[in-house]
Amino acid sequence: MVRVLRDRRIVLGVTGSIAVYKALDFVRQLTQAGAQVDVVMTEEAQAFVTALTFQTLTRRPVHTTAFEAWDAEQAGHVTLGANADIMIIAPATAQSIARLAHGFADDAVSLTALACPAPLIVAPAMDHYMYWHPAMQANLEILKSRGVILVGPDHGPLASGMVGDGRMASIDEILAVTRKALGRTGPLAGRRVVVTAGPTREFIDPIRFLTNASSGRMGYALAEAARDAGADVLLITGPTALPDPKALDVVHVTTAQEMYGAVKHAVQAADVLIMAAAVSDYRPRHVAREKIKKETPIQVLELERTVDILREINQPGLLKIGFAAETEQLISYAQEKLHAKNLDMIVANDAREAMGSEFSSVVLITAEGIIDRIERQSKVALAEAIIDHVAAMLRTRVATDERTP
Ligand SMILES: Cc1cc2nc3c(=O)[nH]c(=O)nc-3n(C[C@H](O)[C@H](O)[C@H](O)COP(=O)(O)O)c2cc1C
Repeated sequence: MVRVLRDRRIVLGVTGSIAVYKALDFVRQLTQAGAQVDVVMTEEAQAFVTALTFQTLTRRPVHTTAFEAWDAEQAGHVTLGANADIMIIAPATAQSIARLAHGFADDAVSLTALACPAPLIVAPAMDHYMYWHPAMQANLEILKSRGVILVGPDHGPLASGMVGDGRMASIDEILAVTRKALGRTGPLAGRRVVVTAGPTREFIDPIRFLTNASSGRMGYALAEAARDAGADVLLITGPTALPDPKALDVVHVTTAQEMYGAVKHAVQAADVLIMAAAVSDYRPRHVAREKIKKETPIQVLELERTVDILREINQPGLLKIGFAAETEQLISYAQEKLHAKNLDMIVANDAREAMGSEFSSVVLITAEGIIDRIERQSKVALAEAIIDHVAAMLRTRVATDERTP
């Protein structure tokens, strides 16, 4: 369960687009993550799906009119808007965007949006020519200038049968933008964090390479947890089977040398570097230009060391966090690595338990010794705990700097 969504009060405005069916899955994901979701529907939205469907998913009353009875606790749209941590309108029709841009308040969704001081996310959904109409573009500009967070639309097949712009952003993307917006004032607000993830590939010939079993899950979870804590995140990843995390920057690399180049460049503007990637320690000394043929006599593969990224990056003020995945003597090897590479913290885990798995347990070590042992749990939860330590270390550093004359 993602922490930034737990117990948050989310108001979802749903308007009359065919993309409304996607909002059902969105609501399901939000409620499964522990959020409290109040759905507000326009009249036209109810022509596509019923309020009952949303009510069943949220287990809460669905608001379909501005003219519902007020009582001592609940003053309709005013209470709903005022108590929200965030409001999202998805899908947002051309009509509802026009209403928002011009401050109309003649339906339950726009009325609630006007009464809501929390951040507003709008996910437009419409046909290509509707989206590109100057009136629509001008309305979107107005919303942007007011700080409304626009997500999408995407390019792709539209309900009309044509292919173009106007397809509502994916639920993954809207969810990521929601998490980022909810975490904007978190403990890493204003910080720039670089995270590396996944394995590298060291080529033997054009199609064969040396690699390892890293899935990238830990690094991806860390990047998302840092984003959810308010950081501006760049993820530098080797090849993985995972989809790119959304609402953060992603750079893809293949070899250790490429990863080094990307990290060196990225850390210039960073406060924190978290190296969760399983960077290959060796690469073939010679890379065959053409595919090595089966008939070629068996060769000895000569290896050479790859660049040691963590050791090479030594930027003053950069908080450096490394990972140690070992199969024996976990703590002592991790401590050696901490000192040899001049790290602020090392996250030690058992390589056999961690590699490729969705779960792991970790030991966090700093110059002071072991500071935390986190029992086996999902990498998502582990990442949140690690990010808490990173935030605490940054706070300590600021406090120390302020004391130093
Ligand atoms: C089948 C159908 C699909 C529609 N899909 C969209 C759409 O994707 N985007 C949009 O802006 N309008 C769409 N419309 C038009 C809107 O439903 C219409 O403008 C309506 O007044 C919007 O009202 P609302 O914003 O209050 O929900 C569609 C209409 C129909 C009949």
